[in-house]
Amino acid sequence: MTTPPIDPDFCVTTIAGTGSYLPERILTNADLQHMVDTSDEWITTRTGIKERRIAAEGQSTSDMAAEAARRAMESANVTADDLDLIIVATVSPDMFFPATACLVQDKIGARNAIAFDISAACSGFLFAMQVARHFINTGNRRTVLVIGAEKLSSLVNWDDRNTCVLFGDGAGAAVLKRIDNGGDQPGRVVSTVMGTDGSLAHLLRVPGGGAACPITPDNADQRLNTIHMEGRETFKHAVTRMCHASEEALAKAGLKASDVTLLIPHQANHRIISAIGERLGVPAERTFVNLDRYGNTSAATIPIALDEARRSGRLKRGDIVLLVAFGGGFTWASSVIAW
Ligand code: UT7
Repeated sequence: MTTPPIDPDFCVTTIAGTGSYLPERILTNADLQHMVDTSDEWITTRTGIKERRIAAEGQSTSDMAAEAARRAMESANVTADDLDLIIVATVSPDMFFPATACLVQDKIGARNAIAFDISAACSGFLFAMQVARHFINTGNRRTVLVIGAEKLSSLVNWDDRNTCVLFGDGAGAAVLKRIDNGGDQPGRVVSTVMGTDGSLAHLLRVPGGGAACPITPDNADQRLNTIHMEGRETFKHAVTRMCHASEEALAKAGLKASDVTLLIPHQANHRIISAIGERLGVPAERTFVNLDRYGNTSAATIPIALDEARRSGRLKRGDIVLLVAFGGGFTWASSVIAW
């Protein structure tokens, strides 16, 4: 068993519990065949997705986030009163403001917590985890709820076959805790790296609806307030950036890809996941995939996968877990967790 060293720049932060929530309604590839010119065969071979979850009428991002949060708190054995910070990573907030994190704070009754959102698209959960780690490191906060939650069905152009087959709704959460004695604990965050390249923002975005391009009766029919993506270009950057980020996070932790027990990559496309595994040298049986059931839930993919891996017994003491994500911005991030 390899025990990575404790980063001297940080006190020990651990993932003390995880939770996730997926809405009940399932939209299959067969359903999509009736909506746009597509086929189960195309979606399966090009993406690996078979079905995705869609939030119920009236169910918002904060509702799903709050449910994932309750499950994470239960698994971490903390109460809402114990929380002193809530960070929600999302690109599909309930509204521009207040932050979705404020709405979650109210829904779960976390009266002692400060709360704010982070917008880093599919890398949002890992960005939020690192921000939480900095708060914990300064001694400022001890028990932090980090959530990735998305209702992407509200941002999808359901007439665009290039994008509508890819995305789904859901939420995942983790409770991060400061460990004072500096000892080794399961779920220890060992290293994190993050990156951004705003010059490529145009390749994956929702161009309208914000201050730069408010939706008006004149431009509403152009569907500018939905997801626009240059799929092929995004694909190439996703593979390159996630491989480099993974290598950097491992190097920072003093580890090699052969030490990785479980790779949990952002779930966007099975071809991207396979390419990363091949380049890093992590075999498929050590790679977590639930993309077939949920599609791409942006900031929620990693915490949902982490929760499923933990609950299904795939995380054991001594395991080295490599998390890696890539998304609009572009943004990317990778974290090594010692379980
Ligand atoms: O989460 C953030 C990061 N996101 C990603 O990393 C996503 C990255 N991109 C991808 O996963 C892939 O680029 C896609 C799955 C989005 C697309 O796969 P692709 O192999 O790059 O296909 P393409 O966009 O190059 O399109 C190939 C063909 C086109 O037809 P023509 O022009 O060759 O006749 C598309 O019109 O496939 C067509 N096509 C479809 N056909 C059936 C595109 N979408 C569909 C569809 N069903 N849903």
